[in-house]
Amino acid sequence: MYILGIETSCDETGVAIYHSQRGLIHHLLYSQIEMHSEYGGVVPELASRDHIRKLIPLVKQLLLESELTKTDITAIAYTAGPGLMGALLVGAATAQSLAFAWNIPTVVVHHMEGHLLAPMLEENPPEFPFVALLISGGHTLLVKVASVGNYVLLGESLDDAAGEAFDKTAKLLGLNYPGGVKLSELAKFGQTRFRFPRPMTDRPGLDFSFSGLKTFALNTFQNSEKTHQDKADIALAFQNAVADTLAIKCRRALQQTGLKILVVAGGVSANSQIRTTLTEMLEKENGQIFFPRPEFCTDNGAMIAYAGYQRFLFGETQNLEIFARPRWAMSEL
Ligand code: KG4
Ligand code: ZN
Repeated sequence: MYILGIETSCDETGVAIYHSQRGLIHHLLYSQIEMHSEYGGVVPELASRDHIRKLIPLVKQLLLESELTKTDITAIAYTAGPGLMGALLVGAATAQSLAFAWNIPTVVVHHMEGHLLAPMLEENPPEFPFVALLISGGHTLLVKVASVGNYVLLGESLDDAAGEAFDKTAKLLGLNYPGGVKLSELAKFGQTRFRFPRPMTDRPGLDFSFSGLKTFALNTFQNSEKTHQDKADIALAFQNAVADTLAIKCRRALQQTGLKILVVAGGVSANSQIRTTLTEMLEKENGQIFFPRPEFCTDNGAMIAYAGYQRFLFGETQNLEIFARPRWAMSEL
């Protein structure tokens, strides 16, 4: 059984084909970074229009390079939310139109479930149950995962998501979109000079708050000479604070649940320092840690095809309804 996956929730057009026995067959990604960087961030209207331009040609190329035809596809999975309304509608309408033309069902996928299941595409996937840390541009979630679809929210960000904090801090240091990656590159040149707080780690609980770090970075920056070295040192201090905070909360979540496996996914999990800090923490705790490969940390079609396949197995298929939900809590799954 071949499942076509379509991701268009934000600024990447991703498509992929997953096979029930053969696993991931192929995936393609078109990133809109270049187009949005002129504006310093994602422009929703431009994002939707670009998805319209790129999606069908990408699906054609995907089938061709996979040596498959439309008749091989059993169902089409698409990201139905959360994300930008216009961008989601392009994926949903295209998926439904193709499904109507090919006479097959669609499967709606929650974007964060896609991220959560992305490590399952790796050669050595985690075994259930585990704790998942999902760190993306819009969400920071700690979730107890008993099995596919069986999620208990343990903690979340009360203000900025981890990725959002990276992006905003990058902006105030004068770095362009996409800020997270740029900030982490700058941090490589940083020296340990400043110490930022580890927010909400001095009290019990598994929620996060990252907006204060941004303010801390701004104040430190304004009180500095604003040289390249100052910026790099601030970037490093910020990144250290986020990495340590995530590690403290993850250790707490593992202790609280009695679990020994941590899965980390979402765009920010591509950050090498965060990967290292969390890996070291798990080593100390005698636990195991799993990440997607870096290209499947950020948005992609492969995770949607895989999550769609899992939902298809639950019998969750749709007929003609175009389903798009910009706001959609994972707890509703
Ligand atoms: O998961 P994702 O691709 O999209 C959403 O679902 O939001 O995550 C994007 C977020 C952005 O905030 C981006 O700055 C951040 O992930 N990000 C990073 C890195 N790569 C992407 N943050 C820190 N370090 C990175 N290497
Ligand atoms: Zn994402």
